[in-house]
Order: sequence, then structure tokens, then C-alpha cells
Amino acid sequence: MQSGAVAEEGTRLAKTLSWPHLIALGVGAIVGTGIYTLTGVGADRAGPAVIVAFAIAGAVCACAALAYAEVATLMPTAGGAYTYTYIAIGERLAWIVGWSLILEYSLACSTVAVGWSAYLVGWLQSAGIELPAALLNGPHAGGIVNLPAVLVALVIAGMLIMGTRESATFNILLVVIKLTALACFVALALPAFNGENLQPFMPYGFTSHVEGGEVRGVMAAAAIVFFAFYGFDAVATSAEEAKNPGRDLKIGIIGSMAVCTLIYMLVAISAVASVNHTELAASAEPLAYVLRTLNHPFAAWAIGLAALIALPSVILVMMYGQSRIFFVMARDGLLPRRLSAVSSRTGTPVLITAVTGVFVAAAAGLFRLDEIAELANAGTLLAFVTTAASMMVLRRTAPELPRVFRCPAPMLIGTLAILGCAYLFFSLPALTIQRFLLWNAIGFAIYLALQAFRQNRVAAASDAGG
Ligand code: ALA
Repeated sequence: MQSGAVAEEGTRLAKTLSWPHLIALGVGAIVGTGIYTLTGVGADRAGPAVIVAFAIAGAVCACAALAYAEVATLMPTAGGAYTYTYIAIGERLAWIVGWSLILEYSLACSTVAVGWSAYLVGWLQSAGIELPAALLNGPHAGGIVNLPAVLVALVIAGMLIMGTRESATFNILLVVIKLTALACFVALALPAFNGENLQPFMPYGFTSHVEGGEVRGVMAAAAIVFFAFYGFDAVATSAEEAKNPGRDLKIGIIGSMAVCTLIYMLVAISAVASVNHTELAASAEPLAYVLRTLNHPFAAWAIGLAALIALPSVILVMMYGQSRIFFVMARDGLLPRRLSAVSSRTGTPVLITAVTGVFVAAAAGLFRLDEIAELANAGTLLAFVTTAASMMVLRRTAPELPRVFRCPAPMLIGTLAILGCAYLFFSLPALTIQRFLLWNAIGFAIYLALQAFRQNRVAAASDAGG
């Protein structure tokens, strides 16, 4: 992570990006709390079949990513799915997407912050340092606030306000750390493979349902481990820096999805085959837990350290993305323009980043990891659906536009992305879907109020003029 000035230098260097760089970029943005923490939640819902859940979520994401790559290269703007929907479909749906993206980006930051906090606590405990439990958990677990999660969110918001950006070189270093840690995990856990741990393989069945008050099933697990796959927009938005965008983006996106799916399945199989899935489900830092259980305390310590170093970069990328989306929405007049004011000193949108940081920190400090991850997924799934729809609409309405990257079999891939995302969405717990609808109802009421305000102002100005 470097200052804006140095990152500029990184951007110039990046003009020679080829597909291996794009795969590194994608993997760097994608690998985070999803695999490091949600593997445990997935195992709780699907049992050993969490491996299948990763495969399903990966396949759906690959289809969405191809659609995303086509529209992202057609409209290389900072607004992401919000802008694609605005242009291809219209303002109202774009507002809903923008409002849902707040869930994706902000709550994904909160989720990663909570996952990070659990690794910090486990890591400190292994060094004999105990922190007061009331400051490590939100009220849902009998505590007051998850203080480490709040602090990491606020520190990263502060860094963004100061102008910190991800840099290509630093990203490669983090990718190496994250992947080495996961490779060591597989190397140590897989030899402890015990077939008995995989029996029964699918104890809770396939479809998402409530069993004993808990949401269960392979699809319920897929709907949460879906979190582990997003972040690939980092690849799509580097189109202008690719040597041969058409080829490199395709390989970069499919490649980073394939690499992540393979790694996740290997990590998941190593975890569920080496310890009983119920134990895995009970840990907030499941990968470190597995290594400790298998009597590799140093490796457990090291994987905790890798998570502590690497996970904050996912928050940085996501929080930066959030501030850009707010920025574009304010520029389009959908949010008060004041919010997009850029500080002349730091060159960053200070107010919007601070608001985002406080929102992220509050959610991270107070709520349960799986609940915020699921809500982030709901927002992301809507954004993926509308992005795939935008890709298909634009093929019909603007076929002549030159496309840097063309999604193969667009109608088929687009339809698969929409159906797959819809299936994942409806596999989320009913409470998450209700919260998502409530969030959007509030959002739409704000939209209507802002529209009425805008029209009144225009009417008042024309009265004054007339
Ligand atoms: N895919 C990112 C993660 O798993 C958001 O942390």
C-alpha cells in the first residue's frame, strides 16, 4: 500500500500487464475472509459437502464475472454495476443497485474486519495474551463491541482518507503471503485425511432449509461461501492496462476464478477431512484451529499472522470501491453533491470515506459475522444479476459498440449467471432476505424524497426565473 503519488507510478508500470499479472490481481482481491473464516460457517451448514458449495458458488461467479468483464470494459467507470444498470436499464433500478452495492462493499469490509479480529484474538491467545471478552464480541454474543474489528475498519478508512491506494507490487507480496499460507495449510492438513470425517458427506441435504432452528444444506452453504469469490472486478477494471485486453481479461478472469475455486476446494477438503466438521464449525478462525488440533502450533501461529497481514488489504480495496460508488452516485445527482467533495489537501473524498468508515466499523463492532456476510452477499447477488442483464440488454440495444472483451455465448452465460445468482439469493436465510428488502424499501423512500426535493428546487428556480 503506497501513497497516491507512488501508486501513479504503479499504474504506469501496469500498462504492460499480461494474463499472469491479471490472475495475480484477481486472486489478490478475491482471497480473504471467505476462505479463512467462512469455511467454518459453510461446514456448519453443509457438513463435508461444503466442498461442493465452493464449487457451485465458484461456477456461478465465473458466469457473472464474464458478463461483468464485458460491460466493465465497455464502460470503464468507477460506478461498477450501478453505472451499467443506469446506462443499460434506467435510473430507478440503478438506484436500487447502488443502494444494494452499499451492502456489498461496506458489509464485506465489516465481514473481513470481524474475520480479522478472530484471527487476531487467536493469535494473541497463542502468545499468552488475553483480551477482555466484552471487547471482542458484539451484543449478540454477550459482549459490548468487537473492538479490534472496529479499530481495523477505522484505521483503513483513515489510510484511505490520507490517500493510500493498493499498489501492484504490494499486492503481489500479499498474494504470495496468502497463497503460501493456504498451501502450507493444505500440505499439513491433507496428510491427516481421515475418510471417516467425510461420512456422512451431505448430512443436511442439498437445498437450503431450516433444521433445528439453524439454516442448513449445501445451497445454504453456497449462499454464504459465495462471499469468498467476489472482488474480481479488480481484474475487469484493469482493461486499459492489459497488453491484449480481449485475451488477457478472459484468461485473467476465468483463470483467477479457476485458481480460487481450486484452492478453496483443496483447503475445504483438507479442513473437513482432517477434523470433524462440527469442530470446524465452532471455530472463529477455523484454519488456525485445524492446524492447532493437528499439533502444528507454529503453523497455526503463522497462518494467523498471514491472515492478519493480508486480510486488511481486502478491506482497503472494498472500502475504496465503496467510496467510488458513492462518489459516482453523488456526481449523478442521486446523492447530495456535497458528499462527493474532494479535499484539496489529500485529493480524496474525505466526507464520504469517513461516513463509510463509521458505517463499516459500526456493523463490524456490533453484528454477527455470518449475518453481515449474508447481507453483503444479497447486495452482491443483485448487482451480479443486473450486470448480467445489462450485458444482454446492451448486446440487443447497442450491438455496434466496439467491445474490448466479448463474453462467450453471451445469452447462455448471462442467463446462467442470472439463474445461478437468483438460486443463491433464495438460498439465503429468510431473515437476510427480509432485511435486504427492508434496506431497499428504505433506500427507495430516500430516492423518492430526493427526487421530490430536486423537482421542487427546479420548479422554484423556474418560478424565480419566470
Ligand atoms: N472475497 C473476499 C473475501 O473472501 C471478499 O474476503
